[in-house]
Amino acid sequence: MTKTICSDISRRQLLGAMAAAGATIGAWSLTGCSSRNEGAPAQDSSPETTQPEGDGSTSEPETTTTPAETPAETQASGKTLVAVFSWSGNTLAMANRVVEDLQGQAELFRIEPATPYTTDYDEMLQIAQDEQAAGTMPAIASTVPNWDEYTTVYIGFPTWWGHLPQIVKSFLAEHDCSGKVVYPFNTHAGSGFASCLSDLAEACPNADIREGLSLMGESISSSTAEIDDWVSKNA
Ligand SMILES: Cc1cc2nc3c(=O)[nH]c(=O)nc-3n(C[C@H](O)[C@H](O)[C@H](O)COP(=O)(O)O)c2cc1C
Repeated sequence: MTKTICSDISRRQLLGAMAAAGATIGAWSLTGCSSRNEGAPAQDSSPETTQPEGDGSTSEPETTTTPAETPAETQASGKTLVAVFSWSGNTLAMANRVVEDLQGQAELFRIEPATPYTTDYDEMLQIAQDEQAAGTMPAIASTVPNWDEYTTVYIGFPTWWGHLPQIVKSFLAEHDCSGKVVYPFNTHAGSGFASCLSDLAEACPNADIREGLSLMGESISSSTAEIDDWVSKNA
């Protein structure tokens, strides 16, 4: 259903726009479809999840450090939610592992557009680019019941054109993260978080955003140890 992100046209489109946006492109532009993720387990060349890209990268898993003004003692103690937007399954696979690691302590919520996105890769590229350019906030299909009961939110998303997908911004506009502890996680095809974290900080300025984890989309099935480590550090 989807085309590979190694498609020349798609790659050129993304590279041009990402460069124009000043996004961190890294090895995304330099490598072919083989992949290596230094410091991480070997890449799985036949990922279990559907994904649009078979792109390679030499980038290490990206973590972000929480500002010093968010001490560990502010860690919230209420319910935990794992909210994820995933178009082609990679970030959902990561989210499922996070939920598993949290051993029954977290619920999964899928962020979905009210009007389903196309399943065509090239169309999706264009739609996402148009949404970003216009600042469109697509309606979300559903909201989280009892949102106020959650004090910790893991939020997962793919990098889209170097940014947080607009649908995730829509979700955050309807779910106030003020005072909540937020752990971002992400899959990508070479850019890492790029500008996603600054977008996230802008979308939820009063949240306590902690260290995130960004992994190559194609490596999720071979990166469970990194996910496990990250979740255990957060506990
Ligand atoms: C619309 C669109 C834009 C994308 N833009 C980027 C990008 O800027 N940088 C990048 O590394 N990967 C980009 N990708 C690849 C995805 O981030 C990557 O395949 C991710 O693992 C997909 O996650 P998902 O399966 O949860 O949707 C893009 C993919 C799509 C469909």
